[in-house]
Amino acid sequence: MADLGFDGSVAIVTGAGGGLGREHALEFARRGARVVVNDLGASLDGSGAVSESPAQSVVKEIEALGGEAVANGDSVATKEGGEAIVKSAIDAFGRVDIVVNNAGILRDKTFHKMTDELLSPVIDVHLKGAFYVTMPAWLHFREQKSGVVINTSSNSGLLGNFGQANYAAAKMGLVGLTRVLAAEGAKYGIRANAIAPVALTRMTEELLGSMAEQLDPKLVSPLVMYLSHPDCPANGNIYSAAGGTIARFFIGLTPGTARGHAITAETVRDDWEAINDESGYIVPASPAEEFLKLAEQWKA
Ligand code: NAI
Repeated sequence: MADLGFDGSVAIVTGAGGGLGREHALEFARRGARVVVNDLGASLDGSGAVSESPAQSVVKEIEALGGEAVANGDSVATKEGGEAIVKSAIDAFGRVDIVVNNAGILRDKTFHKMTDELLSPVIDVHLKGAFYVTMPAWLHFREQKSGVVINTSSNSGLLGNFGQANYAAAKMGLVGLTRVLAAEGAKYGIRANAIAPVALTRMTEELLGSMAEQLDPKLVSPLVMYLSHPDCPANGNIYSAAGGTIARFFIGLTPGTARGHAITAETVRDDWEAINDESGYIVPASPAEEFLKLAEQWKA
């Protein structure tokens, strides 16, 4: 089968000055996409610039490979920033086809010590940032009847991780956003998926221990490439990518029990094991599919 190329396509990768975003940007360029390399140059906690322009140095790397890219230094965390990022794609290349919402910061703290200074910037960058960049791109996607959104979630949100209430909530929020974009975009040829990567970057260098050497961030980009390609049918899904292993996370619903008007707190207690029994679970693609299951159970 032919290689997956992106000739003629324009990809925006946020937070692409380093880590995972840089790998995605380089791989898009190697495969023929023109790339907007966005990065504010933030420190890990988002409090200030650490280096002159990481976005520009990634653009230089892309140019050295013979690719085409522009740097953008706006923050994803404001409506104006999101608009400016999409405008860079339109100004430089006349279109936008792919948005990879990847920019991120960490402000970890156990929940009893959480403050608004730790909460708001994390929600702003990860969750609102994905809205702010995707909203202006969406208008182009609807008009051109094609487009791809990839939101960078995390197993921290999907599974919960000690000390990361702010980050986990933002990352799970991105799953909800992804599902709605998938539902609303389908009839316009727009697809949205989420990824939950694990990789050795400055964000994780102190966390991964002996697993670190397996977890080259390069090994996440192949999933991003395939999800971004028109050949990929996936829409509304969540994929895990770590050290060359790709798998799908999903939200399952157990058969549970149906008691109708006879339900009481005591029947819930008595049914607890059956309610939690995972055998025969389904993976509803939409609320409508959950309603179908309910209707079946009410009939029975
Ligand atoms: P990183 O810290 O190397 O990359 C994040 C980039 O986002 C940085 O270059 C930073 O300057 C940029 N950034 C921060 N705030 C920004 C803003 N307001 N506007 C534009 N750019 C901004 O970390 P890494 O690991 O590459 O993270 C990339 C994404 O992957 C993040 O969303 C992170 O939460 C997510 N992730 C990473 C995991 C890992 O194992 N490395 C695990 C799960 C999720």
